[in-house]
Amino acid sequence: MADIPQLTFNDGNTMPQFGFGIWKVAPDVAANAVEGALRLGYPLIDGAYIYGNEAGLGEGLRTSGVPRDDVFVTTKVWNGEHGRDKARASVERSLKTIGIDRLDLVLIHWPAPDRDLYVETWEAFIEMRDEGLMTSIGVSNFNADHLDRIIEATGVVPALNQIEVNPELQQPRMRAANAERGIVTQAWTPLGNGRSFEKEPLTAAARRTGKSPAQVVLRWQLQLGNAVISRSVNPGRQAENIDIFDFELTDAEMAAIATLDVGARTGPDPSVFKMM
Ligand SMILES: NC(=O)c1ccc[n+]([C@@H]2O[C@H](COP(=O)([O-])OP(=O)(O)OC[C@H]3O[C@@H](n4cnc5c(N)ncnc54)[C@H](OP(=O)(O)O)[C@@H]3O)[C@@H](O)[C@H]2O)c1
Repeated sequence: MADIPQLTFNDGNTMPQFGFGIWKVAPDVAANAVEGALRLGYPLIDGAYIYGNEAGLGEGLRTSGVPRDDVFVTTKVWNGEHGRDKARASVERSLKTIGIDRLDLVLIHWPAPDRDLYVETWEAFIEMRDEGLMTSIGVSNFNADHLDRIIEATGVVPALNQIEVNPELQQPRMRAANAERGIVTQAWTPLGNGRSFEKEPLTAAARRTGKSPAQVVLRWQLQLGNAVISRSVNPGRQAENIDIFDFELTDAEMAAIATLDVGARTGPDPSVFKMM
């Protein structure tokens, strides 16, 4: 099995740099997908209350036979669950639905700035972490101004900020903003829906290394220093996506891939997104 590097958070805890995400994985196939990924050696599962498949996450965790302590489990609190009491209820519900007594990491899914409840939600996260409901706390889709607001209000810096990063949306400023604050960047939709798979920087690196464009993109993410979560319900592609620890991209290949950045999101803009 792949030897997957660990990243160290600003709170002293560690997290595997690579893992498996379950957005859009239907509830009735989630258990199988999670079990398959864990058996292949994925050490981290990235879920969320809003994905509607946390029961499958828990079932896959149990049927995989992989010890709970060997798996890093993340979930997220959705926009409609912001605020002290709702955030707590959301975390307690996730623990119950997954069937575990402690989460490794919980994230505020989006800042939803129109609601203006993310500071209060962060305060609730700190209390819950201190009580032991989760080991580490972080955020997702936070811009620099959102980060600074919660840090100034509480003095607690998020361990991680999960943001969209792929070859067409490389987010150099946001990755630097995270790094300056001691926050791990974790990339969501790392493959960018395959928008660049036919582009020369990826096809050339794939030819030289004997890997697929998807593997080259995931490897590029790791070499940027990002934590990465990848998703596939297909066992062959699950195996392909974790087979990225036996090759390296050259500096020239990294530079060529950097030219693919066009600043184009596949998902919403965090400064305005407010779906409940
Ligand atoms: N915080 C947030 O707001 C946020 C937003 C989006 C996602 N996320 C998290 O990030 C995770 C990853 O993002 P994502 O789900 O968009 O994943 P992704 O890994 O970028 O893309 C998954 C898609 O690519 C296909 N695929 C996977 N491996 C492939 C390969 N080797 N070659 C060709 N196609 C391949 C999959 O199809 P098959 O399944 O058919 O293989 C699926 O349609 C999510 O699952 C979720 O946990 C978080």
